[in-house]
Amino acid sequence: MVEITLKGITKRFGNFLALDNINLKINDREFMALLGPSGSGKSTLLYTIAGIYRPTRGRIYFDDRDVTDIPPKDRNVGLVFQNWALYPHMTVFENIAFPLELRKVPRDEIERKVREVAKMLHIENLLHRYPWQLSGGQQQRVAIARALVKEPDVLLLDEPLSNLDTLLRLEVRAELKRLQKELGITAVYVTHDQAEALAMADRIAVIKEGKILQVGTPNEVYYKPKYKFVGWFLGNPPMNFVEAEVEGDYLRVYSSRIPVPSHYREIIEKLGIKEVILGFRPHDAQIVKGVGDGLLGEVYSFEPLGREQIVTISLDGVFIKVFAPEEESFTFGEKVTVEIREDRIILFDKEKEVALEYLYKD
Ligand SMILES: Nc1ncnc2c1ncn2[C@@H]1O[C@H](COP(=O)(O)OP(=O)(O)O)[C@@H](O)[C@H]1O
Ligand SMILES: [Mg+2]
Repeated sequence: MVEITLKGITKRFGNFLALDNINLKINDREFMALLGPSGSGKSTLLYTIAGIYRPTRGRIYFDDRDVTDIPPKDRNVGLVFQNWALYPHMTVFENIAFPLELRKVPRDEIERKVREVAKMLHIENLLHRYPWQLSGGQQQRVAIARALVKEPDVLLLDEPLSNLDTLLRLEVRAELKRLQKELGITAVYVTHDQAEALAMADRIAVIKEGKILQVGTPNEVYYKPKYKFVGWFLGNPPMNFVEAEVEGDYLRVYSSRIPVPSHYREIIEKLGIKEVILGFRPHDAQIVKGVGDGLLGEVYSFEPLGREQIVTISLDGVFIKVFAPEEESFTFGEKVTVEIREDRIILFDKEKEVALEYLYKD
């Protein structure tokens, strides 16, 4: 129930630059995912919002209030860590009640609030147990309950699902997303799992080496990656990338030629660029048997996935992956043509690895 503004946040650990001039606005009631590989600075940014770390430079605002110099306990944030860190000698009730005890909340109010939040997380029948008597999923719910019980303005979560097995992770993921919206709480969610970010977040901030590369809705970052890295990091399998050379109205891709996509004609002309990287998602192309109009290649391998199959195709020795319907059958080495959905093509600058439209704007 608060809007978070990060202005020019830089964090150094000694000589190491962990966060490099982060500017980000997180809207009231928004679910913002911080997505990036391990070591990219996600946790550092989260702990800076929490007040556990002080930024080397920059300011943090909750609504109009500058909280940069305010200690964590006075920021009213709920934190959920990757390893849930429950107090082993306390029952579930006592664990959840702890933040309220610290605040000297009256006994009957503690009782009421703990039961309320426990009910919300479906753990009301576990209140008398100790952490060692709980499954991983239950412990994780207790940790979330403990973060929520003091009715924080902001919920901060650091990879809270990564210690759960796959099925449980999917279940809690859906619940957490619903809970966040029901409570109408502003949430910042750190993850290295692109599927989790796409599934849960209203917007995703993609972080690499302490910098935010792109902020957008799941749809925006998935279909309109600003950088080659973003196209690669999101999606499973990742975006395909092949080198291409501009030849008039065509792109030469190894031994094939396809028209320059209409949304890039003007940009390419203005930039006068010759060498690009062509990017497209594995489900934004279809495979046609034999030699036709498109990228010419050979089937290298094919893997059924149930509803569909993923086909690896060699374009003169460079591999791309394309989804095909389950009923289609392929043979190793057969000649095929890959027809890419033109409006989904992204062209990147070969050196800067940034999408051409951003090069053009700068
Ligand atoms: N307290 C610290 N002291 C020194 N270096 C740190 C400290 N915390 C994090 N780092 C470094 O900062 C970088 C970002 O760390 P972190 O924010 O934990 O990454 P992520 O959460 O994205 O995996 C890493 O290279 C890490 O080694
Ligand atoms: Mg981390």
